[in-house]
Amino acid sequence: MEISVIGAGYVGLTTAACLSEIGHHVFCADCDLEKLDSLRVGRLPFFEPHLDDLVKRGVASGRLEFTVPSDAIKKTEAIFICVGTPPLENGEADLSSIESVARMILSSAHGYRLVIEKSTVPVQTAKRLWKHLSIYNMNALTFDVVSNPEFLREGSAVEDFFHPDRVVIGAESLRAIALMKEIYRPVLQSRSTCPVHSECPAVPEPKLILTDTNSAELVKHASNSFLAMKISFINLIADACEAAGADIEKVAEGIGSDKRIGRAFLNPGIGFGGFCFPKDLQAFVRIGEKLGCDFSLLKEVEKINVRRAEQFVAKIKKELWVLRGKTLAVWGLAFKPNTDDVRFAPALSIIRRLLAEGTTIRAYDPEAMQKAEIDLPQITYCQSPYQAAEGADAILVLTEWNEFRNPNWKQLGELVARKLIIDGRNLFSADEVSPNGFQYIGVGRAVQAIRTAQEFKGIAAAGVLDVSAVSQPAPAQSHAVRTSV
Ligand code: UGA
Repeated sequence: MEISVIGAGYVGLTTAACLSEIGHHVFCADCDLEKLDSLRVGRLPFFEPHLDDLVKRGVASGRLEFTVPSDAIKKTEAIFICVGTPPLENGEADLSSIESVARMILSSAHGYRLVIEKSTVPVQTAKRLWKHLSIYNMNALTFDVVSNPEFLREGSAVEDFFHPDRVVIGAESLRAIALMKEIYRPVLQSRSTCPVHSECPAVPEPKLILTDTNSAELVKHASNSFLAMKISFINLIADACEAAGADIEKVAEGIGSDKRIGRAFLNPGIGFGGFCFPKDLQAFVRIGEKLGCDFSLLKEVEKINVRRAEQFVAKIKKELWVLRGKTLAVWGLAFKPNTDDVRFAPALSIIRRLLAEGTTIRAYDPEAMQKAEIDLPQITYCQSPYQAAEGADAILVLTEWNEFRNPNWKQLGELVARKLIIDGRNLFSADEVSPNGFQYIGVGRAVQAIRTAQEFKGIAAAGVLDVSAVSQPAPAQSHAVRTSV
């Protein structure tokens, strides 16, 4: 099919490249002419695994073209709206870009158009869009408006496109449903060759959920809010583990093994970031208010998340005593691994707080340093995690990149001023770190795991285990049971 995708941002570009990969002829449109020129030669404005290959392949095959919105809208029957809906000061989503695409459709399109809303928008936006298109329709345009929310995660967006759990289509005409099914057929029938795996894992075919536009829009905000709620919940439990002397990894395993709950998104840490959860949560709270529904639950989710950075800094302070004059190595700046995105990244808000305390920051991130430097020019950016560790009083793990998982501990030990890892993502464990002579502080890990009864007896016999501390709640952050003393 001939498809246009308006907005060559994160969602738009990924959607356009993936749609061209499954055989459609896609016109990816943006008003930024410089961006279009870069994209035509395969230069992407952000890092996303596999996407550059897809864009290059799409352009080479002629199935992916970059153009301005009016041109794309003129040429295609199906139009995906993938423009930004950033937060206004009051937390509501700014829908002005959606409205301006509607204007462009009205001025450039003739005949029939399938208008597909993919940007994250408040419930009832499709209805408003339909009304707007109807009121200002001077060209005898016929159209359908469909809601088709995206569930792509940064860092694995291409994989998510080819192996979605579900495709949600909110549509109110048979013609629109038929066209949407046609667009997604290769994905729905798992017939497309996924560019991520040489052999795709055996996953069930995606579920197709057909519904009305309001319900589809709610699915998106409710999904993101629910996931954010899971993260804030486990962060609360991690606090309880630290206060009571328990191991969050085991607690999360115990909770997550219940199929009704599931283990995913129960990883505690320094909080969720990125351009989706924080803004979508705020927007959903505003939507709740407008609908007259009490969404105070979600306000708490947000509050808990905002507190994470503060608490993490308090933890560092507790260990390092006076922060002024201390040097801290920061491993990871991106809001999560496999992306260069630092928008609402917890690492950045932690660094800002640490700078205010008078510390020197030496940071390293495999992809996100260029973007972080725009916001934080005053810190030192290093070429490797080792360089960042030079002279550091502590290494702070703020993004769980794979690259950090197996450091050369000996080399690291020779570089730092103090052998201390404060791990905001539980990338490591004390069992791994302590034998290398480093002190380890994670999240929600007041008691280090004793895995077997035998090990327990061995340690007790060696006289290094204060058994009384095990049977009673340990004080916050104490290492009641040390496996490697
Ligand atoms: C999220 C959703 O997962 C996607 O389904 C959705 O399409 C997307 O938002 C969007 O609305 O566009 P994304 O923001 O890319 O995707 O990242 P996630 O993988 O969901 O992670 C979000 C944040 O939560 C990260 O900062 C991550 O570190 C944090 N997180 C995640 C945790 O702290 N703990 C966890 O267990 C999981």
